[in-house]
Amino acid sequence: GAAAREALARLVLDVPDFPEPGILFKDITPLLGDPAGFAAVIAALADVGRDGDGTVVVDKVVGMEARGFILAAPVALALGVGFVPVRKVGRLPRATHAVSYALEYAVATLEVHQDGIAPGERVLLVDDVLATGGTLQATVDLVEACGGTATAAAMLMELSFLPGRQAIGDLPLTALMTV
Ligand code: PRP
Ligand code: MG
Repeated sequence: GAAAREALARLVLDVPDFPEPGILFKDITPLLGDPAGFAAVIAALADVGRDGDGTVVVDKVVGMEARGFILAAPVALALGVGFVPVRKVGRLPRATHAVSYALEYAVATLEVHQDGIAPGERVLLVDDVLATGGTLQATVDLVEACGGTATAAAMLMELSFLPGRQAIGDLPLTALMTV
């Protein structure tokens, strides 16, 4: 926990006016390039998938394209459970469930393979940033479309000036850093 928070504070860089004026972009690539820092944050995210005794309490880890993949795949390996990709529309080759959600001036659609999550499975959702919560809520809906249950979410960062928490209802959410 402490090592992860120290790594985040030191290795996530603020980039002003990217990708457009007025946006302060949080660049995680220095963190990913630091093996001790990367390991510390993966360990902290994986802990969200264990109970107080250290028992793994999820059956799958879902990551959301693209940055979520980088974090969710090592979390799945750390927990010893399968990794399931949630992809932007049109990328998955077999039967999918799809969920669309509103962006500021557009609609985004995410998909998951129908057989990626079995009915009754408990699923941990992992991504880098919680902003509006649109991506996370759409992913919860995809897990439920498969018959699974999203039991927790683990994120590197939560943007406190956006209503992401309210958007996701009562899903337990752990963010290692609030900005
Ligand atoms: C970013 C970020 C989260 C999402 C959070 O993804 O990685 O997935 O936005 O925003 P929200 O809470 O408002 O949905 P994005 O699709 O922009 O880029 P990526 O493909 O690099 O992950
Ligand atoms: Mg993303």
